[in-house]
Amino acid sequence: MKKIILTGDRPTGKLHLGHYVGSLRRRVQLQNEGDYDRMFVFMADVQALTDNADNPEKIRQNIIEVALDYLSAGLDPARCTLYIQSQIPELAELTTYLMNLVTVSRVQRNPTVKTEIRMRNFEANIPVGFFCYPVSQAADIAAFKATTIPVGEDQEPMIELTRELVRRFNQVYREVLVEPNIMLPENTTARRLPGTDGKEKMSKSLGNCIYLSDDAETVWQKVKGMYTDPLHINLNDPGHVEGNAVFTYLDAFATDQDFADFWPEFKTLDELKAAYTHGGIGDMKCKKLLNSVINRMLEPIRERRHAFEQDVPEIFNILRKGSEDAREAASQTMDEVRKAMQIDYFNDAALIQQQAEKFKK
Ligand code: TRP
Repeated sequence: MKKIILTGDRPTGKLHLGHYVGSLRRRVQLQNEGDYDRMFVFMADVQALTDNADNPEKIRQNIIEVALDYLSAGLDPARCTLYIQSQIPELAELTTYLMNLVTVSRVQRNPTVKTEIRMRNFEANIPVGFFCYPVSQAADIAAFKATTIPVGEDQEPMIELTRELVRRFNQVYREVLVEPNIMLPENTTARRLPGTDGKEKMSKSLGNCIYLSDDAETVWQKVKGMYTDPLHINLNDPGHVEGNAVFTYLDAFATDQDFADFWPEFKTLDELKAAYTHGGIGDMKCKKLLNSVINRMLEPIRERRHAFEQDVPEIFNILRKGSEDAREAASQTMDEVRKAMQIDYFNDAALIQQQAEKFKK
C-alpha cells in the first residue's frame, strides 16, 4: 500500500514554536527523508470558519501568514502538495456522506471538541458546522486515502473517529477508503510546549507565544520575561527544572553543539540541570542561553521568510497549483466513493437497463 502523509493547520494565526516542535519540524524532516509516496499539507480554512463564520477576514489574512510559515520552515512545494481546504469541494461532498455513518452521541464524545466548546463559551449554542468538524476532518483525511497523520496529541480523537468512519464506509458499501494512523511527536516535551508564562499551552489568545516570524529582538524580550522557578530567588538557592519553562524549552531545542558554542562550561543540558538544581546558576544566564538557541534555530527560517515575502503573488501561485493537484487526487477517490455508494447513476449501465426493462410495456 502507498504511504501518504497528510496534515494541516487552521489558518487563524501565525505559527509559533509550539507548532514548530509539535508538528512542523517533523513534517519538514519527513519531507526531506522522502520515505513516502506523497505528502499533503493544507490550510484548514473551512474548519477555521466553523468557529469564525462572522470573521472571514481573519482567515483570509492568515492564509498567507501560514503559507509563509510553511515555506520558511522548509516545506518545499516540489516535494509536498500545499493547498487550501475550501478549494477542494469534494471534501464537502464526502463530509455529507460520512455524516450518515455516525451518530450525534458519538460525535459528542470527543474530549478535544468538548474543551473547545468550553473555551469558546459555546455550551448552549454550538454551531452545527463546528459540532460536525470532526466528521469533516475525517473527510479531509479519507479523500486522499492518507495513511499517516503527523499531528499533536489533541488530534487523537479526530483520527480515531476517522478510522471508525473509514471502517464503517468500507463495511456498508465497499472497500474504498483507507484507515489512517496517527504519528505523534517523538518526545513528550514536543507534545505540548508551555507558554512563555509557564501556562500549559502556547496559545495566541493567552499572549504567551514566540512566533516563527518574531525577530531576534522580540525573541529576546519574550525570553527575558519568561516564567522560571518562583522559589529560585537568590543565586545560590537550589533551582527547580520541573515546571520551569526555560528548561522545558531547552529540553525541546538545545543541542550539545549549542552548549559547546554558547556555554562551554557545560557539555550537556543534563549537566546544566544538575548545576541549576544544586544552586548557584542564575536564571538570566539560562535565558541568555535559551535566546541564543532559539535565535540560531530561527535564523535560517527568517532568511527564507524574508526571501518569500518579496514575491507574495508567487506564493498564491504555489497554493493554486497545489490546490489543483490536491483536487485531482480527491476527485479520483470521490469517483470510487460514488460508485461504491451506487450514486454514479449516469455511469451505471446495469441500472439504466434494469429500469428500462421494469417500465417497458
Ligand atoms: N484540526 C487540526 C488542528 O486544529 C487541523 C486539521 C484539519 C487537520 N483537518 C486535518 C489535521 C486533517 C490533520 C489532518 O490543528
